[in-house]
Amino acid sequence: MSGITPRAGTTPRRHVLVLGAVGVVSAASGCAVYGVDDEQAPPVDPPEGDGTPEGEAGGGANVVAGTGDVEVGGGLILADQRIVITQPTEGDFRGFSAICTHQGCTVSAVRDGTIDCACHGSRFSIEDGSVVQAASGLTPESQDPLPGVAVSVDGDQISVTE
Ligand code: FES
Repeated sequence: MSGITPRAGTTPRRHVLVLGAVGVVSAASGCAVYGVDDEQAPPVDPPEGDGTPEGEAGGGANVVAGTGDVEVGGGLILADQRIVITQPTEGDFRGFSAICTHQGCTVSAVRDGTIDCACHGSRFSIEDGSVVQAASGLTPESQDPLPGVAVSVDGDQISVTE
């Protein structure tokens, strides 16, 4: 098995996201084993459109990453979910929109304490999303910060909450 046990109230999509974030090797080896003996195969993920809103699990939380995926002093860009998870100091996880407030590019990197957009050079604080460096031709005061996204941590899982 993969070592990741489904919890009550989770959706298959959540498991896929968690596997994708922390257990690619385990998932790959699990597929080989499951193909040999169908009786021990895990439940098959239902097709899309099962009534659960996209990316949402029961209870309004959506696991998006593992805590080990986010560097202390850095961050993780989840382009598909359009969010950035940062960890300014150990154990302090924060979420922001990954959509640059200048012209809507998805931010491209997290380094040296900032979330960076490669389109026109905007840089935002990993602590509060404030503008550290505005886009070319703008001042920090004239550009909006990255909006915050509420996140919570349960064990080693980071969830986006509503
Ligand atoms: S869209 Fe990000 S700096 Fe212009």
